[in-house]
Amino acid sequence: TMPETVNKVLNQHSVGKKAFIQGWIKSVRKLKNHIFFNINDGSTREAIQVVAEMEAAQNIRTGASVSVLGTLSIAPNNQKELKAENVQLIGDCVITEGYPFAPRKVYPPEYVRQYLHFRPRTNRFSSLLRVRSNLLTEVTKYFNEVGFIHINTPIITSNDCEGGGEVFTAVPANKELIKQMGKPGEPTEKTYFNSEVYLTVSGQLHLEAVAHGLSKVYTMGPVFRAENSRSRLHLSEFYMLEAELAFINKISEILNVIENLLKTVTRRVLETSQDDINYLTNNKDFSWLDKPFVILTYDEAINILSSKLKMPDTDARSETEFSKEDELAVVSYCGNLPTFVINWPKQVKAFYMRECEDNPKKVSALDLLVPGVGEIVGGGLRENTYEKLQKNIPSDDKNFEWYLELRKFGGVPTGGFGLGFERYLQFLLDIENIKDAIPFPRWPHNCQL
Ligand code: 4AD
Ligand code: MG
Repeated sequence: TMPETVNKVLNQHSVGKKAFIQGWIKSVRKLKNHIFFNINDGSTREAIQVVAEMEAAQNIRTGASVSVLGTLSIAPNNQKELKAENVQLIGDCVITEGYPFAPRKVYPPEYVRQYLHFRPRTNRFSSLLRVRSNLLTEVTKYFNEVGFIHINTPIITSNDCEGGGEVFTAVPANKELIKQMGKPGEPTEKTYFNSEVYLTVSGQLHLEAVAHGLSKVYTMGPVFRAENSRSRLHLSEFYMLEAELAFINKISEILNVIENLLKTVTRRVLETSQDDINYLTNNKDFSWLDKPFVILTYDEAINILSSKLKMPDTDARSETEFSKEDELAVVSYCGNLPTFVINWPKQVKAFYMRECEDNPKKVSALDLLVPGVGEIVGGGLRENTYEKLQKNIPSDDKNFEWYLELRKFGGVPTGGFGLGFERYLQFLLDIENIKDAIPFPRWPHNCQL
């Protein structure tokens, strides 16, 4: 008999059918002649109950991996149950030898996070991973339906898209190779690619190049940021979903794409991951799905913060980005609805942002703020006037030559956005710390596993 998933056996098999499953033991109960235990294999949140003769399964315990051959039947409590004919211990799990999770105990996320390699078998984290997987499936389906083409943008790049200097440099580790490839007498780490290269902070610039040919494109990939932040909302490596549209002139067109994407994908994942989401959030309020997102200009948001909410530091703030407290205060003022903030002061946003038509001090940039998290999306219209863009290019960086040329030959106005995938999960599932939204988080001083 071929092994089958617990999900399939529980939800598709009829009673009386033989099944062969493999997984990890979640709990064990020993009665007089029988032993009952629950097995989960990660295919679903549910565990299947197995009943075996005492002799057949004497030395099994919580945490161990096993395979079971049995017949599906109905237990006295009306639940499906596997009557075991054969139980094989695959790998034992002995707490006294250092396994950090005791049977039936629930641990706080900070504790579980110390054991990233064991975390995928905890109930909460395996639920999170299934939701994360379904979320990506729904995103892909949705973009496909509305005519976006999926693109892979490079991880290694010679530009710092956001211009914030938050890049990691990529150099060959092999010093011999550097010597071989460098000019005689001056081998440098730059010689592998003939320039300094980085791990990408955003695929946007490459996505713009592709949009100038395929019109509507998106990418989903890891991006890297060397920020000295250990906050509950920052990672050194995270996943960003980025989309770019050609032939658009109004920021409202991007806002519509973002709002429709978030609403459609969220609604669908609430169905496909119903069980896991209920377990993780327990009746969370999703009424935002039935209401329009709020749209504020930056000036309106500042006005709310200063005159309505009397938040401190308003003068300094009017020249900078919002603090996390500001973001959350604006969202809460707006009835805890997702809130777009548009038309930002030029100096706080990246070089590629398009000047507002009616005000050269402002750019058509957008942030989307949501309850509990603050910013989850950043984006806007891109400067498509060659001369204006040229003036904004950081110093006279040769690496942006190709980017400028997009405006010179068959240029079109484009715009787009980047959604932080882990922050989206935080918003969806009320995850306090972003490190609990990705299997192997990287943050300052933490990359052992
Ligand atoms: O606002 P950001 O920096 O925008 C860009 O990178 C644009 N180039 C995207 C584009 O227009 N194609 O980043 C986008 C989003 C943020 O809104 C946030 O959700 C997330 O990425 N983000 C982070 N998530 C986790 N850890 C970090 N250190 C993050 N920095 C940004
Ligand atoms: Mg941003």
